[in-house]
Amino acid sequence: MNVEQDLVVAIEPIRQMTLAICTNHFFESGIYAKLDGAPCSLTEISQQLSLEPNRLEGLLNYLRNENLVFQQDGKYELTERARLVGKYKAWYTMLVGGYTETFVQVGECLKGQGRWATRDVGKVGIGSCGISHYDAIPLTQRLMSKMEQPASTMLDLGCGNAMYLVEFCKTMPQLRACGVEPSKAACDSAQSIVSKEGLENRISIVNKSVREFLQSEDVDEPDLLVLGFILQEVLGQEGRSGVIDFLVSVLRRYPKITLIVIEVDNQVSNPTVMEHRLAKAYYNPYYLIHEFTEQQLMTDSWWEELFAEAGLQVLAKDHPDSAVDSTNLEIGYLLRGAN
Ligand SMILES: C[S@@+](CC[C@H](N)C(=O)[O-])C[C@H]1O[C@@H](n2cnc3c(N)ncnc32)[C@H](O)[C@@H]1O
Repeated sequence: MNVEQDLVVAIEPIRQMTLAICTNHFFESGIYAKLDGAPCSLTEISQQLSLEPNRLEGLLNYLRNENLVFQQDGKYELTERARLVGKYKAWYTMLVGGYTETFVQVGECLKGQGRWATRDVGKVGIGSCGISHYDAIPLTQRLMSKMEQPASTMLDLGCGNAMYLVEFCKTMPQLRACGVEPSKAACDSAQSIVSKEGLENRISIVNKSVREFLQSEDVDEPDLLVLGFILQEVLGQEGRSGVIDFLVSVLRRYPKITLIVIEVDNQVSNPTVMEHRLAKAYYNPYYLIHEFTEQQLMTDSWWEELFAEAGLQVLAKDHPDSAVDSTNLEIGYLLRGAN
């Protein structure tokens, strides 16, 4: 028996855990962006980002050994691997930045007793919007193209950093939008993205939960309401009757509104689905998180039944582009009041 060979296999997850967390630090510290601009020496990175040189060198040594940076002529540069990983940074922002504390609390929360694990909601919202750029935003656009009239006013409840709204406003010159988001950090990020894009006169951001917003704000009837991964939040916070009550309140307030709901089909117990490589890489941790935080994922048929009970009719249903995600686990619903 070769102990060393077995040991390397057995502790591979520890290497991957360290790598995931340090890759996220690579992004969050600004080092990745700095090296993406131009090769830099240790002193340049340390001075420009105000980082302690010895510790910075420690992190860079680690990243070099994991083939994320290399050194040439006394300067650090990004490897091809780092650039590939950088393209999918949003998954790190959400799952590592947003949910590392959740994974750490799984053991304590196993006892239940009403204890939920915490998460960094701001990072979850920001990361989720970055992921949506690849899957949910194109899916929403496809569903929008099925509306009888193109939308001219859009409301995004739980808008994260408002990337949805920015992307839509950039491609649809007639569109005006309002984003509502309870996390102050995500709202601040939304506000700065909207300003950077020069869209302040078309996109407004409100720092409220969906409920507070519906009860207080006086917004002219929007044509379209987008709920990207929000009903799972309301379900966790208020239960099934809360979601129905919420959807009924939306319809009562905006009777002619069209809704686009994006949710994830809960297929965690389906071994065939869970064999898919993206299911293992993404959805398996994603399902786990939802068991331990105050959110709840349900199946497609469960949502369809709930929509009918809330007085909504499903006009169309679709999935992300299969080149991005061929699991069909993410579902977009185009809905309207049944009467
Ligand atoms: C998974 S992110 C989704 C962000 C974005 N809608 C998207 O599609 O990528 C969930 C968001 O819901 C927000 N949220 C949680 N509870 C909420 C509530 N009661 N009302 C509105 N938003 C809520 C969180 O702050 C977070 O930004």
